[in-house]
Formats: sequence, structure tokens, C-alpha cells
Amino acid sequence: MEAQNCIACLKSGPQGARVTIWDGQKLGRLNPAEKEDMRRVIDDMGRLSAQAQKLKVPITDYERIRLGSQALYLLTSSGPSKDVILVKGLLKVGQKNLFIRKECGALVEINPLCVLDFYVHVSCQRIGLGRQIFDAMLVHTKKLAYQIGYDRPSQKLLSFLAKHYNLKRFYPQANQFVIYNAYFDSSCPDD
Ligand code: ACO
Repeated sequence: MEAQNCIACLKSGPQGARVTIWDGQKLGRLNPAEKEDMRRVIDDMGRLSAQAQKLKVPITDYERIRLGSQALYLLTSSGPSKDVILVKGLLKVGQKNLFIRKECGALVEINPLCVLDFYVHVSCQRIGLGRQIFDAMLVHTKKLAYQIGYDRPSQKLLSFLAKHYNLKRFYPQANQFVIYNAYFDSSCPDD
């Protein structure tokens, strides 16, 4: 990965971490050797994320990002030598068309940006790296956390959202997506 790929106009976070964004177009512009590097990085991180969430198969891999309309944020930091970069986390987002039942019973169709996969390497969780990659995504997409949908969030993600963005109230959905009540009424405090 090269310095010009860094979009996150953010200061370095814990351990000098920074965020880069990848989509099909950007992967397409890499040379063959870089493409193979990225394939290895994305596939490996996708596998680790699936293991952490106890999913049968990874939901993030190189081909899906190359061919799809989803965006992948990668959190990296410098390694022990100049030419080594450590990849510490991933966050994948994409637009979804959803039918959501509101607390009052009404069924509404919405098309939010959704968090589809989110993972920080087990060796460096709970030191703020998740917050760093998530905030980079919010800045880049010009969204607030309550304006986003969450696909089958784990307890860790629910706790992360409650802690960092004060998101707590949502109505459980048959499709397992979480849309916080504030999505529909941002004037209501979410607690
Ligand atoms: N148990 C409960 N809450 C946790 C845990 C945990 N083991 N780990 C992180 N959190 C939450 C807590 O609110 C924690 O605050 P605390 O330490 O004061 O309790 C907060 O996240 C920490 O914030 P960060 O350090 O910024 O987040 P982190 O770098 O740990 O990344 C993430 C959060 C991505 C959820 C990470 O814990 C992880 O990769 N978990 C395993 C995979 C996972 O569950 N991913 C979400 C899947 S659902 C989806 O992608 C739509």
C-alpha cells in the first residue's frame, strides 16, 4: 500500500494508525503486483473478521470489493521496517434497500448506507482503533452514526455504538438490520 492511497485526512491515531479507502475503481488502477498484495490483505482480513463473528464464510473479499459497489476502509500502521505496513482493521459499507417496521407499527422503505462488516484485529481491540476507522468513514461519507444502518450487529458493535455515539434505542427487525430510532427522528435524543 502506498502513501498516496491514504484518504483519511485524519491525524494519526493510536500506534500511528491511518485509514485508506478502497473500491472497485481504485483496485482496478493498481498494477498486477499491487493487486495481488491487496487480494491477500483483503481476503486475509475478511477471513479473520468472519472467524471473529463466527460466520461460516467471509462476507468481505477482494472480488466482492472489485466487482461490487461497496467501499472498504482499511486501518493500517507502519511495521517494523519501512516497506512493511500492518493492516489492523476493516470497515465495509454499502447502500441497502430495506423495509423497516417502526415502533408505531408502520412499515417504511429506506435506502441507507449500511455497515456490512467491521473488524479490528484481536491484538489491538479496545484501544480506540475501531473509533478511528469508523470516524474516518463518517467524515468521508458525510454521515452521522444514526443515519447509518447496521447489518446484524454483534454485541461488541452495539456496545461500541452506545459508547461512542450514544446510540441505544432501536426496534428489532425481522431482517436483523438495526436502524436506530434517531434515524427517523433525529430531534429526539437517543436515550
Ligand atoms: N465486549 C464488549 N464491548 C466491546 C468489546 C468486547 N469484547 N470490544 C469492543 N467493545 C466496544 C466497547 O463499547 C468498548 O468500550 P470499553 O472498552 O470502554 O468497554 C468499545 O467497543 C471500544 O472502542 P474501540 O476501541 O474504538 O473499538 P475496537 O477497536 O475494539 O473495535 C470492534 C470495535 C470493531 C467491534 C471490535 O471489537 C471487533 O472487531 N470485534 C469483533 C468483530 C465484531 O464483532 N465486529 C462487528 C460485527 S457486526 C457488523 O460488522 C455489522
